[in-house]
Amino acid sequence: MTNAQQRIEELRSQIREHNYRYHVLDDPVISDAHYDAMMRELRRLEEAHPELVTPDSPTQRVGAPVGDLFRPVRHLRPMFSLDNADTREDLVSWEQRMERQLDEPPRGYVCELKIDGLAVVLTYRNGILDTGATRGDGTTGEDVTANLRTLASVPLRLRADDPPEILEVRGEVYMPYRAFEELNRRQAEAGLAIFANPRNAAAGSVRQKDPAVTAKRKLSIWVYQLGLVEGGPGFGTHWETLEYLSSVGLRVNPSSERLDTIEEVFAYVDRAEAARHDMAYQTDGVVIKADSLAEQDRLGYTAKAPRWAIAYKFPPEEQVTTLRDIQINIGRTGAATPFAVLEPVFVGGATVGLATLHNEDQVALKDVRIGDKVMVRRAGDVIPEVVGPVVAARTGDEKVWSMPETCPFCGSPILRAEGEAVARCTGGLACPSRAREWLFHFAGRGGMDIEHLGYKTIDLLLEHGYISDPADIFTFDVEQLAEHEGWGEISVANLRRAIEAAKNRPVARLLTALGIRHVGGTVARTLIREFGSLPALMEASEERISEVEGIGPVIAAQVAEWSSDPANRGLVEKLGEAGVRLEEEPPDERSSDLLAGASFVISGTIEGFTREEAEAAIAARGGKATGSVSGRTTALIVGESPGASKTAKAEELGIPVVDGETFRRLLDEGLSALE
Ligand code: IVH
Repeated sequence: MTNAQQRIEELRSQIREHNYRYHVLDDPVISDAHYDAMMRELRRLEEAHPELVTPDSPTQRVGAPVGDLFRPVRHLRPMFSLDNADTREDLVSWEQRMERQLDEPPRGYVCELKIDGLAVVLTYRNGILDTGATRGDGTTGEDVTANLRTLASVPLRLRADDPPEILEVRGEVYMPYRAFEELNRRQAEAGLAIFANPRNAAAGSVRQKDPAVTAKRKLSIWVYQLGLVEGGPGFGTHWETLEYLSSVGLRVNPSSERLDTIEEVFAYVDRAEAARHDMAYQTDGVVIKADSLAEQDRLGYTAKAPRWAIAYKFPPEEQVTTLRDIQINIGRTGAATPFAVLEPVFVGGATVGLATLHNEDQVALKDVRIGDKVMVRRAGDVIPEVVGPVVAARTGDEKVWSMPETCPFCGSPILRAEGEAVARCTGGLACPSRAREWLFHFAGRGGMDIEHLGYKTIDLLLEHGYISDPADIFTFDVEQLAEHEGWGEISVANLRRAIEAAKNRPVARLLTALGIRHVGGTVARTLIREFGSLPALMEASEERISEVEGIGPVIAAQVAEWSSDPANRGLVEKLGEAGVRLEEEPPDERSSDLLAGASFVISGTIEGFTREEAEAAIAARGGKATGSVSGRTTALIVGESPGASKTAKAEELGIPVVDGETFRRLLDEGLSALE
């Protein structure tokens, strides 16, 4: 073997191992930069020695578009679908059916999350990925090998010294919520149709003609079923097959559990449903399988589904209802957002009467018309949205909507600047809708975080002329509220206290609350760290602002423009007079590098800090706050209701787990607080 060949093989095997640690074990041991450097070295060597390139090399994930994409492939074993259970009774009947056939209840179950994505089959021959296909009609699917190869969590080669001749597995390709939201943001910005849900986005991404497009979509896979193994190990239970699949480097969902009784299955279903919206990806139920493969054999299949498995479905998050009207709302920046007025419908655990339609282009792209039957979706805390029309239900009486020319709240023209996706009301803060949204943003979680000051109270305050801009919040006579229905002594006192507390928020919060375009929490903190106070920032020139690290020209221009507006200068002055803090306390000289090089993970709520503030306090001392515990974490800080998995992981890795009190000492004293 030549030197180059040896190094190439070494790099490939290391990269594969790190890939496995990162994507399958979720436990990386090297930095992204280190990984990238290894990939670069491998690419360079392969470019110099093209004869040494093999299809299973980690560099060979994204290929050029190929002719055989979507060619039909016959599955080695048919891909059945699953029978559904909607209720506990359905699960009990399923168990009883199996008991009748087996003369005793199944000897155990495996519960798995039902992932909402696209079912695929992967076939490995002698350990090398041979084909990836969609489910199709269950017998024949479409060849999407070139696209599935681009998923970093699909191994191109199994981790096995003596891999089976054939290994065929089934799994679900899905798009995590975060990737889904990012994709839709990009689609909307580019004026393209947004995807209705992560499942459609995953399906659309796998069915791309160009693998390079799939590669950008941040898809992932969970493997949940062994289809066929030839020339490999034998198994007694489904659980053993999952353990095996995981051991050869396939990504098996860690939420799966082996359980003895149907009662334990019920408890699993309860837990899965409660945790449903805390997951990073979409699930639509729990799949329950009889664990023993011998029992599975005896139970067999109906024409379409195995008798040994069932899908317990969570309540639906999509429903059909009538679109009565489309109206617009004017947001705090003046953006006109169309929303749907619906025949109220129970969906995703709540009755929904209004749903967002995003923007003008989306209404046109989705082609929803007033009077349409539409699909409405509500998942967790997410804002309900109209997914699209049920075209087949049209009568011809539906009306096409277009953006009104004038604002329904203030009568000013609504204009859409060229190249922008949104139309805006031109009425400025004289527009009551805009003022209302502005105040709501100002007082909201992302802003000054004034408890008890939501839409309802803001509406009341505006209606009675108690306030008209954010500074008024701090000066109006709260006692007057006692005259209004529903405002007892306690609620008045609560609001007064909340307003008082907000006067002393970090200045970066105030800056975020003011709602300058492009100025969110991170930018605001950077600016205040640099300038120390809001008045100092407002005196700074555009050029000076753009010199700040992390601040680009667009933000600098927005901030300078905002600062030069006399109305805004007046507002800031008024806020200062009302006793709102405009200046950051001078930072402790020593504090800047107390935590230099240290990396922390925060779990739960630390008393006296929002998550943002805790992270900012760490950053201000040169430390870093990250999302997951790894070998490089200095300490895990646990507050109230921390996540169990982070603590377990830290303990496993021997990383110190400290409380809020120690956190405060860390901020004051530095790392010696850990000793
Ligand atoms: S097992 C013979 N397990 O649900 C077993 N399916 O309605 C067949 N799905 O087409 C499937 N998560 O797309 C199984 N943990 C899981 C699953 C799962 C999602 C999907 C899959 C299948 C559909 C069945």
